[in-house]
Amino acid sequence: MLKSAPPAQFGRVILVRGSQARVGLLAASQMGLAEARATVGRFISIRCAGSAIVAIVTEVSSEQLPPGSPYMAIASVDLLGEILGGSAPRFQRGVTLYPTIGDPADLTTNQELRTIYTPARSDHINVGTLQQDPTVMAYIDVEEMLNKHFAVLGSTGVGKSSGVSLLLNEILLARPNLRVFLLDVHNEYGRCFGSRALVLNPRNLKLPFWLFNFEEIVDVFFGGRPGIPEELEILSEVIPAAKALYTQYQNSDRLGLKRIDPKTVGYTVDTPVPYRLVDLIAQIDERMGKLENRSSRIVYHKLLSRIETVKNDPRYAFMFDNANVGGDTMADVISHLFRMPANGKPMTIMQLAGFPAEVVDSVVSVVCRMAFDFGLWSDGASPMLFVCEEAHRYASADRSIGFGPTRKAVSRIAKEGRKYGVYLALITQRPAELDATIISQCSTLFAMRMANDRDQSLLRSAVSDAAANLLSFVPSLGTREVLAFGEGVALPTRLRFKEVPAHQLPRSEATISTVPASSRGQDIHFVTSVLERWRGATSAREIPNDPSFNDKLQSRTLDAPMLQPSMGLDPDRFQLLKKPLR
Ligand SMILES: Nc1ncnc2c1ncn2[C@@H]1O[C@H](COP(=O)(O)OP(=O)(O)OP(=O)(O)O)[C@@H](O)[C@H]1O
Ligand SMILES: [Mg+2]
Repeated sequence: MLKSAPPAQFGRVILVRGSQARVGLLAASQMGLAEARATVGRFISIRCAGSAIVAIVTEVSSEQLPPGSPYMAIASVDLLGEILGGSAPRFQRGVTLYPTIGDPADLTTNQELRTIYTPARSDHINVGTLQQDPTVMAYIDVEEMLNKHFAVLGSTGVGKSSGVSLLLNEILLARPNLRVFLLDVHNEYGRCFGSRALVLNPRNLKLPFWLFNFEEIVDVFFGGRPGIPEELEILSEVIPAAKALYTQYQNSDRLGLKRIDPKTVGYTVDTPVPYRLVDLIAQIDERMGKLENRSSRIVYHKLLSRIETVKNDPRYAFMFDNANVGGDTMADVISHLFRMPANGKPMTIMQLAGFPAEVVDSVVSVVCRMAFDFGLWSDGASPMLFVCEEAHRYASADRSIGFGPTRKAVSRIAKEGRKYGVYLALITQRPAELDATIISQCSTLFAMRMANDRDQSLLRSAVSDAAANLLSFVPSLGTREVLAFGEGVALPTRLRFKEVPAHQLPRSEATISTVPASSRGQDIHFVTSVLERWRGATSAREIPNDPSFNDKLQSRTLDAPMLQPSMGLDPDRFQLLKKPLR
């Protein structure tokens, strides 16, 4: 194939500059079948002695052709890699031997495309077919894709979630020992992975409040708003004290009931050890009792009522069940959440839509932080892929949006996760709104259709120059079509994701339920699940610095199908809001 260069039917090299070249296209090359024509995005092979250089066409023009030229057009190409000859041809990225003037060029043949995309190792997954030649399968290198994180980007409805279902199903098959943790923002993946996934929601999740670090528990107590400094100061003293008390109970058999000074135990607000809510409350009470000045007690009262309100709210049961019984269940929680042992379910789907809206951020922060810390302290003994849908919500480019600790947790995985076997997959429909440093850590990108200029320019800055030329296709890609770049793919590739079977297509649970399935129909479970979503969505969450916030809060809260003090409202404010209802 490579040794005997055929007479050029297609074109010849007329200029070489760095990693770029120009190829004069012979008239015959544009006469063939539509799929054999040279146009932008196509791969061509320049045949040199001993190798074929694979290049991608970035521009074709018939302007400025000198009179009497044998060519009908000039193609600009980027040189990407080479197929080395021999009985077993193989592809490698980068070019070691450059073409010379007059070297013949052809469209890359089906056989050559197979050589490029056929995996050398077995650690590849098949995700679809090449746009240039649908008979050639597109394989992705799992090791490279996971190790250096990946992202799926594209406007709404272009097939991101379906692509994620496809990728994860393939990854689960290729890497049975990998753990996958998926943040399912819209509760749409519940059925995609069959019996291989454990589906968690507020009804079956146990995430004890003491696992939340200081910033996270403050976010919970204050309903997603910044805390009041005086109350935070009290909390920062009583939490370590409550932790010390817990340890004291645990050790009381050995040490007797001698009182330990919390300061000598050395716990900080963030040490992940249990404490009991009764102890926390007793500590606040005790400090309040010592105060002489009545007015300074108000701060303590407010803090106490805040804690009680959240604790008694049934929507927070996943955090506060057994809050006073105690018990160090951290090992159980982690082994359940992160599937160790997997018991046939190496994947966890965390359905976020049913959680109280005001604590979703802190819940995400807790699991993301624990995923990283567990990797860190276990030296990466149990590799895990952390998949984050709607990633721009958790790691926004605008630092005033979202919850700081969640961003910190995601960016820690992005920056250091690979050292500890914690890998990241980000999915977003608004790449420009995602923290650029986090996206720059993703070495494999799957770009789907995107119309927004800002999103496109972000993408352009994230990929290599050679790949950037392909990006002009981004606005015109069809559903399921993807441009894949980076470490996971042999070359920047335009491909079409495989058809995802109906039972693996992501769908929101509400949508599934509205299609009356046989005799089940729209039963009480359907109504309850709709109510749950509805209530979650109408919980109030403060929009800082928004002057119209009070109006929104008022209307949203009064319209909510259930009014109770725990909807993330300040108890005082809640009293005010409640009045018109009476
Ligand atoms: N690979 C695929 N196989 C089969 N159907 C697909 C595939 N990709 C997309 N679709 C179809 O397109 C629809 C939209 O895809 P999907 O929900 O994955 O888009 P999305 O980009 O995640 O949208 P959103 O931003 O709204 O979440 C799907 O319901 C499905 O019908
Ligand atoms: Mg989606």
